[in-house]
Amino acid sequence: LLAILVAACSGGDKDTTTEASKDKPIIIKFSHVTSIDSVKGKAAEQFKKLVEEKTDGKATVEIYPSSQLYGDADELDALVSGNVHMIAPSVTKMVKLDPRWQYVDMPFLFADRDHAHKFFQSDLAKSLLNSEILGNNDIMGLEFWENGFKHFTNNKQPLQKPEDFKGIKFRAQAGKVLESQFNALGAGSATISFGETYAALQQGTVDGQENTFNNIDTQKYQEVQKYMTLSEHGRLDYGVFVNKPFWDKMPEDIRKQVEEALRESTELEWQLAFDENAASLENIKNSGKVEVLELTDAERDAFSAAFESVYEEFGETITPELLDGIRDLK
Ligand code: LMR
Repeated sequence: LLAILVAACSGGDKDTTTEASKDKPIIIKFSHVTSIDSVKGKAAEQFKKLVEEKTDGKATVEIYPSSQLYGDADELDALVSGNVHMIAPSVTKMVKLDPRWQYVDMPFLFADRDHAHKFFQSDLAKSLLNSEILGNNDIMGLEFWENGFKHFTNNKQPLQKPEDFKGIKFRAQAGKVLESQFNALGAGSATISFGETYAALQQGTVDGQENTFNNIDTQKYQEVQKYMTLSEHGRLDYGVFVNKPFWDKMPEDIRKQVEEALRESTELEWQLAFDENAASLENIKNSGKVEVLELTDAERDAFSAAFESVYEEFGETITPELLDGIRDLK
């Protein structure tokens, strides 16, 4: 691990990293928090392969998965300072710079996967990726990568209706919207980094968490959770962000090829998100360790009503423009 850290940190954002030659390719350092077999881990590998093919080896991608280099607390800072050149965090973690990214946590905002895809391709999404606040921090967003809908898991009891959440403590990714979501159900929450969540569940620091099938499965939460409610109450998707000075310094022809590789990887990533989440649901069910609960339409409506307070509290912060704009894309 030390060797990886030294190798990764010593390059920094020196000019040499953007000089391309056959023997010394441009190295794009890409840090992320999920495992290599997760949706994001597999998509990162595909991106690396496409970059090498399209640039004929003049650029490559060094991938640092599983929070081995930077975790939730510091990967954004590492991107801003140029210690890594690319990250793909769950967008809610961008709340550090811009609270509007918490749109993704507004309960039941997205009707289905198609709705999320329409948003990814919309001008609204582009305006978030290219916002002034990100530019002022030397970063810019290039693409949206998908993961999928989140589901609740916990160890205490089957969660079928809002009242069942009373007194249960959940791990949350980041930000006040998720805190408010859990409060609306009478539950507690604690922000815990992704890399520490398995241990927090195992040790009982928290009783539950919310995540996509694929994150649950690839982190093996089924080993430390007893119940999973198929709630689809919120989404977990990624923004692919790059360090702007690094990006701008790349020779134009190579940058174009890398961007083309990212575009193609994005299409592959969306398909991967669908396939891997479906396979992960089967894995979770087949583990025999988790009781899987479905919600009727009436039960879903009860959650929707309970979450109205989240909209009252955060509608202005996330902005009506963004929330109404997303609803209009349905
Ligand atoms: C989480 O913290 O649960 C996720 O954001 C992890 C990830 O990157 O998918």
